[in-house]
Amino acid sequence: MKKYLAITLSLIIILSILCLIKKDKKETIKEAKKVLETTPLSSYSFYKEENLDRYKSYKIKFPTLKNKDIILRVNIGLDHGFYTETKEITEFNILMLINKYNYVTNTFIPNDLVLVESFSKEDMFLNRECKDAFIKMAHDAEALGYNIRAISTYRTIDYQENLYNNYVKNDGLEKADTYSARPGYSEHHTGLAIDIDNKVLSFNNFENTKEFNWMMDNAYKYGFILRYPKDSSITGYIYEPWHYRYVGLEVANYIHEHNITFEEYYYEFIDK
Ligand code: DAL
Ligand code: ZN
Repeated sequence: MKKYLAITLSLIIILSILCLIKKDKKETIKEAKKVLETTPLSSYSFYKEENLDRYKSYKIKFPTLKNKDIILRVNIGLDHGFYTETKEITEFNILMLINKYNYVTNTFIPNDLVLVESFSKEDMFLNRECKDAFIKMAHDAEALGYNIRAISTYRTIDYQENLYNNYVKNDGLEKADTYSARPGYSEHHTGLAIDIDNKVLSFNNFENTKEFNWMMDNAYKYGFILRYPKDSSITGYIYEPWHYRYVGLEVANYIHEHNITFEEYYYEFIDK
């Protein structure tokens, strides 16, 4: 008898908890809908009318996200998942965005590709403006006792394909996708991205060097940003302390000051 009573009581408690959770979720969705109705999304300059239904669904899925972030994330494409609804980029531009939604093909060649004549591990190439900024940065760092060296810069799609396929072979597709771009989707195809080491430790230990700390404090002054920060929810890549992207002084300053990703900058100020 006691056993039945205990079972009935437990069931009542579990059902009550489930009801409370359901009610809480309903309230949150109601709240999210209310916020969307009362705050005009269209007041943001980067609001896109054609994405309205997607903003609504995303807000319901992530009710605690601010409206600005809802719009930006949907415009980035994050509601569709990585490598879906992808778009070919054909024009070179210092502020071009290559990521898990935007790719280039074999016909794409970055403008003004030149040899990195010093501070590099071997012969490698970068866009001239990016290269000049890099040499200046490495030179200034050297004068202060820091070793900054480029270990990987411009990559062809064939090169990236080989890299990526090897990673998939060793680690499987799901893991490889967290740290390597698929061919065509790597920022290294633009001639505007540089992987850096300090000549002593391997690049994946760059975070533990004095050079990394110097880069954190100074890279933006030369137009570079740390492209893949710790929070991977927007970029889709794990933290890469060694990978820097040239965006020019003004944009690097803004991104550094506001601590945002290049994706967020791009959809707030460039593609709107
Ligand atoms: N590791 C970066 C994401 C690349 O493969 O381009
Ligand atoms: Zn890289």
